[in-house]
Amino acid sequence: MDKKSDIGLIGLAVMGENLALNIESKGFTVSVYNRTISKVDKLIEGRAKGKNFIGTHSMEEFIKSIKQPRKIILMVKAGKPVDAVIDEIIPHLSKGDILIDGGNTYFKDTERRLKKVEEKGLMYIGTGVSGGEEGALKGPSIMPGGHKEAYEELAPILTKIAAQVKGEPCCDYMGPGGAGHYVKMVHNGIEYSIMQTIVEAYDFMKDVLNLSAKEQARLFSKWNDDVLGSYLIEITGKILAKVDKETGKAIVDLILDEASQKGTGKWTSQNAMDLGVPIPSIDAAVQARFISAYKTERVKASKILSGPEIEFAGDKDKFVEMVHDALYASEILAYAQGLSLLTEASKQYKFNLNIGNIAKIWRGGCIIRSKLLGSITEAYENNPELPNLLFDEHFSGILNTRQDALRKVVQMANKCGIPFMVTGTSLAYYDSYRKERLPANLIQGQRDYFGAHTYKRIDKEGIFHTEW
Ligand code: 6PG
Repeated sequence: MDKKSDIGLIGLAVMGENLALNIESKGFTVSVYNRTISKVDKLIEGRAKGKNFIGTHSMEEFIKSIKQPRKIILMVKAGKPVDAVIDEIIPHLSKGDILIDGGNTYFKDTERRLKKVEEKGLMYIGTGVSGGEEGALKGPSIMPGGHKEAYEELAPILTKIAAQVKGEPCCDYMGPGGAGHYVKMVHNGIEYSIMQTIVEAYDFMKDVLNLSAKEQARLFSKWNDDVLGSYLIEITGKILAKVDKETGKAIVDLILDEASQKGTGKWTSQNAMDLGVPIPSIDAAVQARFISAYKTERVKASKILSGPEIEFAGDKDKFVEMVHDALYASEILAYAQGLSLLTEASKQYKFNLNIGNIAKIWRGGCIIRSKLLGSITEAYENNPELPNLLFDEHFSGILNTRQDALRKVVQMANKCGIPFMVTGTSLAYYDSYRKERLPANLIQGQRDYFGAHTYKRIDKEGIFHTEW
């Protein structure tokens, strides 16, 4: 074989295939390989026909077809399949070759694999790739971490295939070890929180304000043109507008109310618990999905447990405006919590993360892309040491003027029995965070009472215990 490719890709499920097509479209020759060989042939004969692809039928052939030092992207299912491919591929590689895991891998797995690969004289990159199938094809947000030297080699390709915002690529080196996959995990945690706060707004407007899917579709589409402008608001409007051809009903009204999850939101919560960082809105978003999956029990409970009658006598348009502002505040609180986790993780894991740059590469391509991320980038550029987004003047200003709407909507939801797992929790996070004195004094009293765990005082130095 004379012609060699610039890069190889293993794993031709939709994300892998689309990413390969994206890379080729930017002027690179791509070698592809898949365990089920027919997928290679299907791609080569189909979407890749006439393009600069090298389809290969064995690992050996695949490796030989790539220019050295080889760059190989693994787009296989996160977990054991990644280990299996790495084990299979290592004996064929040469010093300096680079393996890139582009799946939603748990960051500690990436750190373990990086060490293993490093011992063989190879380099490793664990990268978050966000944007779903369309993003992979047209330009995702890319969050690579691992060997810096390997990133330098890959940058000319990765920065070209990434989404571009104002002439800048949505791709940058995150940090060493599992930093890239860590950042992607937190991206997904924020994604969970924003998705849930949006669906709570929808639920409120449906049951309290009696707005149909069609009416809400118009609202979300309008909101997408203002400060709420974001991918998730945009697609929510489109989903609400979609009518089922068979029944003539809004499809959303026909979808079973059980949310699935693949685990990245849960990992974010679990890790934040380990690090001791409060991200209650993300935790609540994960819990909201769990509760939704208890459909059978919920149906039974709905017959025996009572709640309030829904009574709404207020000004509908005014409330819609308040829902808008509550959503705005709650979304900001989701970013604030996720970014505070990144800030702390950066210290504890020595990732040396640049939060401003992370916000910047999230402005395009990824699922949580939004107008807000432009101002978040500025906030961290103005002060890279920001302990929490809420300390930035622009954002404290927004919260100060929107907290009242958030409070009123949460109150009305409570009054009407609408579950506000995330929106309500976001308000509680806000109120806890801004409170100089929390009732933790009494917790300390209780701990000291039953376990002599001691406490500190506000009026004098030292450690105290009381014989209660
Ligand atoms: C992305 C998404 C993606 C993830 C989905 C589904 O950034 O493109 O985060 O990586 O697969 O969000 O995740 P859940 O199944 O957990 O909802």
